[in-house]
Amino acid sequence: MAAIPPSFLGRLFAVSADPSVISFAGGLPSPAVLDAAGIADAAAGVFADEGPRALQYATTDGLLPLREFIAARYRRRAGLDVTAANVQIVNGSQQCLDLVAKVMLDPGESVGIEAPGYLGAIEAFSLYEPRFSAVPVDEAGPDLGALERALAGARPRFFYAVPNSQNPSGLTYPDSARRAVAGLLAGSGTLLYEDDAFGELFFDGRPRRPVGAALPGKAVLTGSFSKVLAPGMRCGWIVAPEPFLSLFNVAKQAADLHSNHLCQLVLMRWLETRDYDAQCRRVARGCERNCRALLDALDDLCPGLGHTTPEGGMFLLARLPPGVSSLDLFEEGIRRGVAVMPGRPFYLEGGDDVVRLNFSNTDEDGIARGCERLRDALHALGG
Ligand SMILES: Cc1ncc(COP(=O)(O)O)c(C=O)c1O
Repeated sequence: MAAIPPSFLGRLFAVSADPSVISFAGGLPSPAVLDAAGIADAAAGVFADEGPRALQYATTDGLLPLREFIAARYRRRAGLDVTAANVQIVNGSQQCLDLVAKVMLDPGESVGIEAPGYLGAIEAFSLYEPRFSAVPVDEAGPDLGALERALAGARPRFFYAVPNSQNPSGLTYPDSARRAVAGLLAGSGTLLYEDDAFGELFFDGRPRRPVGAALPGKAVLTGSFSKVLAPGMRCGWIVAPEPFLSLFNVAKQAADLHSNHLCQLVLMRWLETRDYDAQCRRVARGCERNCRALLDALDDLCPGLGHTTPEGGMFLLARLPPGVSSLDLFEEGIRRGVAVMPGRPFYLEGGDDVVRLNFSNTDEDGIARGCERLRDALHALGG
C-alpha cells in the first residue's frame, strides 16, 4: 500500500458534493442521458421472465448473449476477428486494470504508461509495485522515440494506452500514430493494453480502428457500458486472445466469482429492446455541445490557458500560465465556487502546470458561469 501515490479523490468528492460549486473536476456522465425509465422496464421484463433465476450465481466469464453482442459489435465496427470466446465481462473496465496487472506483473517488472495517464490505472498498477516507463503523449500521439527506448531498455510487460479521447487529456491518436505504435510493439516482447473507455463518444460518430487490430495475439482491449448507459451497473469487458483470457478468468474467479449477474441480464434486455447506437449518439452529441461551450468560454474568458481540442469523450487538459500551480488553482477555485482537477495525479513526475476539465456533467449555462469563476481565480493567482 505504501507504493500507491496519495489519492486526491477523497477531497475531490467532498467539494463536488457541494451544490454551490460548479465542478469540472469529476468524470460523471450527465444524468440527462441516463435512461432510468428504459432500465426500469428492462429490469421488470427480466424478473417477469427469469424469476428467481435472475438472482442466482452465474459463470465467471459472464452472460453469453452479452459477450456475443460485444464481439459482434467489434466485428462490425472495428473489423476485429473476435467471438464471444474472446470476451469476458468484468465489474467495470476498472477491474481489468487490477486483474491484468495481477496476471502479468511480478514486483519490479516494468509497465509502459502514457504521460499524462489515467490516474485510476496508475493507482491500480501501483499495487503490484512495477517500475513505470512514462511515454509522453500529445496531439501527434505517443512520443515514438520514448516508446522505442522503453521497449528496448525497460522492456515493459505491457504498454497501457488510451488512444481514444484519453482521460485526462482528451487526446486521440491519429491513424499514423496507431500504425507506428503497433509497428513498434509488434517487434517487441511487450503486450498492448488498449483501454477504450470512450470509443463510443466520438463527436463525429466514426469509430476509430483499435491499435490492437494490427497486433493479433499481442493485445488486450477493454471497454465499458459506463460512459453511455449506466456507470453504477459496473458492467465492462475485456477482449483478449484465449490463452491470456483463461489466466484472467482464474484471477477474476478468485477476486469475485463473477460480475453482477442481475445487472448483466438487465443490460442485455435493454440492448435487445432499445437502440444502443442511438443512445451512443445521444450521449456523444451532449458531450460535443458541452465541449464546444467549454472551448468557447475558455478562449473568451481565460485566453492565457492553452488547451487540447478533443474529438470526443468527456475531458480536456488545460495548460496553466507560467507561475500558476494547479494545486493553488484548485484551492482558489474552490473559494470561488469552481472545481478543477489538478494535473499531478496523472503524472509520475510533475504535472502541476496543467488541470483536467470535465465537460460531460455541466450544462452550457454552468460551463459559462464556471469559466467566469475560473477567470477570477486565475487573476487572483496572477495568471
Ligand atoms: C480511461 C478509463 N478507463 C477505465 C475507466 C473505468 O471505467 P468503468 O470501470 O466504469 O468501466 C475510466 C473511468 O473513468 C477511465 O477514464
